[in-house]
Amino acid sequence: MDRKDFLSQVGVGAAALLAPICLGGIAGCGKSDSTPSAPTNVDFTLDISSGALATNGGYLVSQGILVARTSTGSFLAVSAACTHEGTSVTYSATNNNFVCPNHGAKFSANGAVTQGPATRSLTTYQTSLSGNTLRIYS
Ligand code: FES
Repeated sequence: MDRKDFLSQVGVGAAALLAPICLGGIAGCGKSDSTPSAPTNVDFTLDISSGALATNGGYLVSQGILVARTSTGSFLAVSAACTHEGTSVTYSATNNNFVCPNHGAKFSANGAVTQGPATRSLTTYQTSLSGNTLRIYS
């Protein structure tokens, strides 16, 4: 066997070994690394006297957390990054749920997956309102 034949066979062998690893984990090929983890040790406040949270149905993203004001005036806070591949989710006041514009995953108001391809829930955070100051915390 000359050098060229050896490299050819080794190359094919290595490719054959690596292919199943990537194919077997195709759903996770780089995905888990690209999905940001949900914020932890959260504790911050927002002024809701103006801006998106001043009216029912509005929402904003701050510090990686989507904060929404429902159509009835209560507040929700969830991790903004979709658990599928990390795209920032949006809030639908009409359906009171979170929707990922990338591949269509949907999450209920409590962060649970209601439609894939996401399989993990959004992380939820506590909220408390004092006057116009909304506290978001873990
Ligand atoms: S990134 Fe959200 S559904 Fe794929």
